[in-house]
Amino acid sequence: MAIAADYTEKIPNNVDLHEDRRLQRALESWQPNFLSWWDSMGPALPTRDVYLRTAVNVGREGWAHFGYVAMRDYRWGIFLADRKPDRRIAFGRHKGEPVWQQVPGEYRADLQRLIVIQGDTEPASVEQQRHLGATAPSLYDLRNLFQVNVEEGRHLWAMVYLLHAYFGREGREEAELLLHRNSGSEESPRILGAFNEETPDWLSFFMFTYFTDRDGKYQLGTLKESAFDPLSRTCEFMLKEESHHMFVGTTGIDRVVQRTVQLMLEHDTDDVVAHGGIPLDIIQKYLNFHFSVSLDLFGSETSTNVANYFTAGLKGRWAEERRRDDHVLTDDSIMVDAIVDGKPGQTEVAALVGLNTDLRREYIGDCQNGVNRWNRILEEAGIDRRLRLPHVAFNRKVGAFAGIEATPDGEVLSADEWERRKGEWLPTEVDRTHVRSLMQPVYERGKVAAWLAPPRQGINGKPTDYEYVHLA
Ligand SMILES: [Fe+2]
Ligand SMILES: [Fe+2]
Repeated sequence: MAIAADYTEKIPNNVDLHEDRRLQRALESWQPNFLSWWDSMGPALPTRDVYLRTAVNVGREGWAHFGYVAMRDYRWGIFLADRKPDRRIAFGRHKGEPVWQQVPGEYRADLQRLIVIQGDTEPASVEQQRHLGATAPSLYDLRNLFQVNVEEGRHLWAMVYLLHAYFGREGREEAELLLHRNSGSEESPRILGAFNEETPDWLSFFMFTYFTDRDGKYQLGTLKESAFDPLSRTCEFMLKEESHHMFVGTTGIDRVVQRTVQLMLEHDTDDVVAHGGIPLDIIQKYLNFHFSVSLDLFGSETSTNVANYFTAGLKGRWAEERRRDDHVLTDDSIMVDAIVDGKPGQTEVAALVGLNTDLRREYIGDCQNGVNRWNRILEEAGIDRRLRLPHVAFNRKVGAFAGIEATPDGEVLSADEWERRKGEWLPTEVDRTHVRSLMQPVYERGKVAAWLAPPRQGINGKPTDYEYVHLA
């Protein structure tokens, strides 16, 4: 059922946009607003062109075309994964019924809300990363940053398409607001906390793409299960692009750890600051920060809203169809995080209200893989230190542990002691200043900044010293 993407149109798409003139006109009138947002809030570094991947279709061959593109001319298109014939709802009250091609009136408000929240994160990260180009550690890294940025822009398009196509006037208004809210803005900030934090340096960028883009993967995974088929198909295709973003994070941190280890061995010291490296202590603190703010994105441990979304079929679980249960969950229970006797513990609740916890746990398991990978680098170098994920109660602002302060081991601290000691676990001004001092741009072809190892491989089979970006 693959529909060929139409590239002759202003807005490339595989949804037969030309057949719906009203929708096409509405999106074409949103397009200039998007471009002026991109000009004022997108990558600040002037470039001539960038070696980028552009999605031109969703099929196995067509979805990733590589070539030099002037970023402003990137073909932000609308691509939905192919329709599965006879797809059925996999969970909840409507389990077994055919999926919906239109929005049922009773679920309209909830579906719109879910799409707006997802849509809000996509341009937010572009805004957060706006100035990173000024300090890129290599052309390879600069290209990866821009790749992530244009794709987050495309993900915004994906959500805006749904709002325009299925939610009428209200949907169009929400699409405008997605460009109106800005990361870190006083008057109209982005909806979720982590998307109002700064991404001031490349260590933060790698941590963000590892931990926060991975939250995106899990959220998209639940929406991919949706009974609302156009949302499901949109998210399925977004997930393909998302995996590159996490690759940037995983391998970015690999390279930082590798370089640190090299300097530690070379100079026989843990304190590689004087040698232009980032000590493991600082890497751990950045990891603690980004992991904990990303945990907050999953919301509180229990939620009746999320239970209702599940029962209604709007949002499933991660890998819903691989779960071996009744997919209705009315008789099941789950242990969720809670304060028990003044300490972090767990309590039993109905499975349906504990779905945020279920998703957060899947996410945490996935995050651990990266930590294991970085620890293998340490192990192979004969270094005893290990990186680790902090306790779920550490540095939380949302959910059961928002009201307490805890160490990365989960020990509860008084507010005073937390204030006194938090610099042991979270980046201090001194740490940030050191990291910032290393952020000198390296734009020379094939050269890489000294605080991280060079990449192992280039992009799309090109050599690592390829001229990935032509600066203006
Ligand atoms: Fe995205
Ligand atoms: Fe992403």
